[in-house]
Amino acid sequence: MKTKHFDDPIERNIAMELVRVTEAAALGAARFLGRGEKRQVDEAAVTAMRYVLGYVRMDGIVVIGEGEKDHAPMLYIGEHIGDGSYPKVDIAVDPIDGTNLVARGLPGAISVVALSARGTMHCPREFFYMNKIATGPEAKDYIDINAPVAVNLKSIAKAKKRKISELTVVVLDRPRHERLLEDIRTAGARVKLISEGDVAASIEAALPDREVDVLMGIGGTPEGVLSAAALHCIGGAIQCKAWPRDDKERKLAKATGIDIDKVYKTEDLINSDDVFFAATGVSSGEFLKGVRYFRGGAYTQSLAMRGRSGTVRWVDAQHNFDRLDKLSFFDIH
Ligand code: FBP
Repeated sequence: MKTKHFDDPIERNIAMELVRVTEAAALGAARFLGRGEKRQVDEAAVTAMRYVLGYVRMDGIVVIGEGEKDHAPMLYIGEHIGDGSYPKVDIAVDPIDGTNLVARGLPGAISVVALSARGTMHCPREFFYMNKIATGPEAKDYIDINAPVAVNLKSIAKAKKRKISELTVVVLDRPRHERLLEDIRTAGARVKLISEGDVAASIEAALPDREVDVLMGIGGTPEGVLSAAALHCIGGAIQCKAWPRDDKERKLAKATGIDIDKVYKTEDLINSDDVFFAATGVSSGEFLKGVRYFRGGAYTQSLAMRGRSGTVRWVDAQHNFDRLDKLSFFDIH
């Protein structure tokens, strides 16, 4: 048998296994929909995700996780996951993107995981937030985070052969986006505000025939990297730039020699075709249906994607709790 080399393409579509990981996290968290308990939502998702991720055949290291080891008992940055066998991968998790949404019983929360070949995932975690612009394959070469909003919208409209007034920009509803919203409105585009979850929003902006065409604005840095993994698979693009919250972050960047003006393109965040992405709906949104129960089980809806092939799969699953209980040492649902 041929020995695997470090830079051999990863032949297996690990995204198919990752779906089981995000399904488990979604099933774990969905029990707490609308119960007002953010911590329980997160704990349930993290525990289920860690358990199933441990069964994926790989030698994985968490690059984006729940934080440093002293704060996170599992899925901490640097944690080794998998049985140590081929392939060597970097792991990014967001057990719930939109924890508040689940706790409050609002639509649009998802569970997310991405893998890429070892050493190819980069998270500029010196910054909590990044400014982002993300879109799909048609307009991916027409965005420039350093250009004014109106210029970007004009280029995207041209690429999509539409009027600016026929473009919709999805933006996180935050006071920090007042000026951005003004610029978008002045340019004449439509706006869709979301309260949480810019990973799902980036993916929506990149998929064909969706309501939104582009994501703009400031959101979490890890979410930017997860979005890059998804957009790489779809063939879209994201550009991100550090958005320091305060002088402390600015000083830290200076002290560590980080260029605050650097533009992180998709390939700067995920630099490999060997990238795999999965997401499962927790609470129903436009992107994915949430967990729905029936007697003895539940339905989930997920998305599984692989960068090398560009295959995007929608996976509807039916879970039988009795049989799962017999299979597993762990109560996933
Ligand atoms: P979590 O649920 O993982 O906390 O993130 C939700 C989220 O809306 C992200 O999608 C987004 O990038 C970030 O929070 C925005 O941060 P903030 O709420 O601080 O503006």
